[in-house]
Amino acid sequence: MSNDPINLYDYEERAKLTLPHNDWDTIDAGAMDMFTTRRNRSAFESLTLRPRFLRDITERDISTTVLGEKVSMPVFICPAGSHMKAHPEGERATARGAGMSNALMMLSTSSNCSMEEVADVATAPLWFQLYHRGYELTEMLVHRAEEAGFKAICLTVDTPSPSPKERDLRNQYERRHDLGNFRGSDRPRSEISGTDETPGWNVSRTTPLTWRELEWLRGLTSLPLVLKGIRTAEDAHMAVENGVNGILVSTHGGRQMDMTMGAIEMLPEVVEAAKGQAEVYLDSGVRRGSDVIKALALGARAVGIGRPLFWGLAVNGAEGVHGVLELLREEVDRAMSYCGQTNIQELEPNLVNIPAGWGPGPISF
Ligand SMILES: Cc1cc2nc3c(=O)[nH]c(=O)nc-3n(C[C@H](O)[C@H](O)[C@H](O)COP(=O)(O)O)c2cc1C
Repeated sequence: MSNDPINLYDYEERAKLTLPHNDWDTIDAGAMDMFTTRRNRSAFESLTLRPRFLRDITERDISTTVLGEKVSMPVFICPAGSHMKAHPEGERATARGAGMSNALMMLSTSSNCSMEEVADVATAPLWFQLYHRGYELTEMLVHRAEEAGFKAICLTVDTPSPSPKERDLRNQYERRHDLGNFRGSDRPRSEISGTDETPGWNVSRTTPLTWRELEWLRGLTSLPLVLKGIRTAEDAHMAVENGVNGILVSTHGGRQMDMTMGAIEMLPEVVEAAKGQAEVYLDSGVRRGSDVIKALALGARAVGIGRPLFWGLAVNGAEGVHGVLELLREEVDRAMSYCGQTNIQELEPNLVNIPAGWGPGPISF
């Protein structure tokens, strides 16, 4: 009998056995009570599919484009800091795995490998995820990303202040790897690092990020701009008014702000507010091919995986990341056949049953 993982949960279980306790905890954790982390899954589970039969589904195509770039599947690697806690080759291994699957990868500002090192080994499109750390650092990062061949800037907007995970605080979790994009910089780590440094719980550090900074950012680069973490129709409306090219609906995997809805529940209002003027993507809680189909049926163009990339990395480096993506590819394809669909770009909302009561109350802009 084959010993290979047969779904993403097998990768999760193996990663947990492989990784040191504190590294496992920091990857797995969500903010506070992890209500939102759980709700990302329960919301997916409350949506059901409406299969369609007696159609010719022999030729199925799950390739798509993201901001004009061709990719072989509608699943991408989410931006996430410090891949070296799961594998010594860090983000270079992840990029090689994504390349083997020809899937989009978003590289975090807080990566251990520098963006140039990752671009060197990437064979599939890369987007650069930006944390705004003040005008000077942001300008330096954006110019380097453009120079290194990244295809878009994905600005994370859902972290107005740091949010240390309580499990990290309990473990006194020390981040031991370099932040590759800032190598050689004399700035203190607290200025350049991510949103959740421990052991110090420095909730006072904030770098203002408003629609005004967005206008400034657009003037810095000709690359398309995507906002990550938009969760309401109101902000989606503002985003398209401000000319963004993409909106990534995300709860950050429930890792920043607890007690919000699951990402998939927020998707319909964002899609409606975007009015086709920006591509919409989703992450948070995607674990099965059927989740991908549900999100695409509700208007997402592609969906991302966060924690599962670490599971793949921990189990088998680049091959593990590739393995995770290929399992999802097979599941997406199978779900397509059961839904009577042949083209991933043509999925419609009538493929899912949406529970009564989903969505916000009346909204006015
Ligand atoms: C360990 C870890 C680190 C992360 N670091 C970042 C980051 O640096 N920037 C960012 O925008 N999102 C970050 N995220 C959030 C992911 O991009 C993504 O939104 C989330 O993981 C998706 O949910 P999932 O883990 O349920 O798939 C991180 C997630 C994890 C698990």
